[in-house]
Amino acid sequence: MRSRRVCLLIATFIAIGQFGCQALSCTTTGSATPTICGEGVTECFAKSDASGTVTRGCVTDATCPSANCLTCSTDNCNAYLVCKQCDGTQPQCATSQTAMVTSLQLCSTSAQQCLNQLADNGTLTRGCGECAAGVGNCSPCNTDNCNVGIYPADRRLCYQCDGANCQTLDNATVLMPCGIYQAEAQKCYMIGSSATAMQRGCQNDAAAGNKCAGATPDASCVFCDTENGCNNRPYESVLGSCIKCSDNSTCADSQAADKAVACPASVYTETEVSCYTKTGDDGTVSRGCTNELTEACNTTTNCESCSGTGCNIQAAGFGCLICRSDNYAPCRSAEVGVELCPVASQTGEDAKKCFNGEWNGVVVRGCLADATPLMKFQCTSADDSRCETCNIKGCNIKTYNGAATLQHMGLGLFGLIFVVSKYL
Ligand SMILES: *[C@@H]1O[C@H](CO)[C@@H](O)[C@H](O)[C@H]1NC(C)=O
Ligand SMILES: *[C@@H]1O[C@H](CO)[C@@H](O)[C@H](O)[C@H]1NC(C)=O
Ligand SMILES: *[C@@H]1O[C@H](CO)[C@@H](O)[C@H](O)[C@H]1NC(C)=O
Ligand SMILES: *[C@@H]1O[C@H](CO)[C@@H](O)[C@H](O)[C@H]1NC(C)=O
Repeated sequence: MRSRRVCLLIATFIAIGQFGCQALSCTTTGSATPTICGEGVTECFAKSDASGTVTRGCVTDATCPSANCLTCSTDNCNAYLVCKQCDGTQPQCATSQTAMVTSLQLCSTSAQQCLNQLADNGTLTRGCGECAAGVGNCSPCNTDNCNVGIYPADRRLCYQCDGANCQTLDNATVLMPCGIYQAEAQKCYMIGSSATAMQRGCQNDAAAGNKCAGATPDASCVFCDTENGCNNRPYESVLGSCIKCSDNSTCADSQAADKAVACPASVYTETEVSCYTKTGDDGTVSRGCTNELTEACNTTTNCESCSGTGCNIQAAGFGCLICRSDNYAPCRSAEVGVELCPVASQTGEDAKKCFNGEWNGVVVRGCLADATPLMKFQCTSADDSRCETCNIKGCNIKTYNGAATLQHMGLGLFGLIFVVSKYL
């Protein structure tokens, strides 16, 4: 088809209007058949408004000033689809859910449709075209501007924001599909040093400044892939309650879980409240929230922690493995739990010590304070190899090989006054 411009030029030069030239015809919104444009009109337009609705017609002076107006210059060329156009070099091509800040494209044949197409590297391409036969990850549609939305539909959504922007997580503005699609186990991340300095996004974001990308992410990164928008924890939040006490009279006893009181806020790297029960050097038991302690809570500090609201309710104090192998065979291999030493032996010279020993083939374990004077002597003597002591809760876990012969059983144990009623 001849170019309209050339035609016009000829018309001007020869100064014979219309001579040898047909007027341009354009598809026009509201008209069932193409409109014959007025004299001097050389272009048709297809214009998209803010909501994506497209109108079409002949270009006259003021019709097509905006960026969202596409023109073409052959008969009926504006009849084809208008599609969203963007590609993998523009992250917002995939991350924007609705009103995309992308350009528009007027398709050039009636065979072309609007496409969403997944690139091999997980990015998205949108525009006019035809999906190649047998190729997955390409989705065509055939109304103006229809190629919007999340593609593929299961593209992971993560909160994507930085700094102050990241304090109130408004789904409408900061919950977005990840720029790079990953079919399985796509993770969201969060990292930050204060409430106003959080950063959230998709783990595989290539964006500069993503400390959580790659094989060696920053140690403060927290990842999740449980559900869309899982990277939503505030910098600090109260995770639950613990029993708090430190009085000598009742704190060592078992406690009622419903008496737990709220803990101080924990940072985002913690997911569950941690409570502690601690026995001081003077035998005093204290309980509280682990994030209130200034020193580590572990066996060295005679402190035990547990996870979950109101979990620190067990009766407290120093404890050892307590058993005799002649009436409970697993005692030889230390396959018994830690039991609290009796209240009377929680304080005093031999408090906070456990022992394990073997006398004539019988293994005995217990709290040193409860042993007979002879056994105490043997256990604490450097020259006696029958028995040894240790001073951390549940430390008497030495295993003994072999089993006692019947002949040996019980011999030499006379006079032992011992708390083994559980196994008698
Ligand atoms: C992904 O591939 C597309 C299409 O080949 C390309 O335009 C884009 O730059 C690539 N993006 C990345 C992050 O590799
Ligand atoms: C925000 O989106 C997440 C993930 O889809 C959803 O669980 C949550 O209920 C939404 N919040 C609001 C306020 O709509
Ligand atoms: C608890 O009892 C111990 C030992 O009797 C004592 O030394 C300590 O001062 C008491 N603590 C309190 C808080 O009363
Ligand atoms: C307990 O924590 C302290 C301080 O972090 C550490 O030095 C000690 O080795 C820990 N003890 C055990 C048994 O983990």
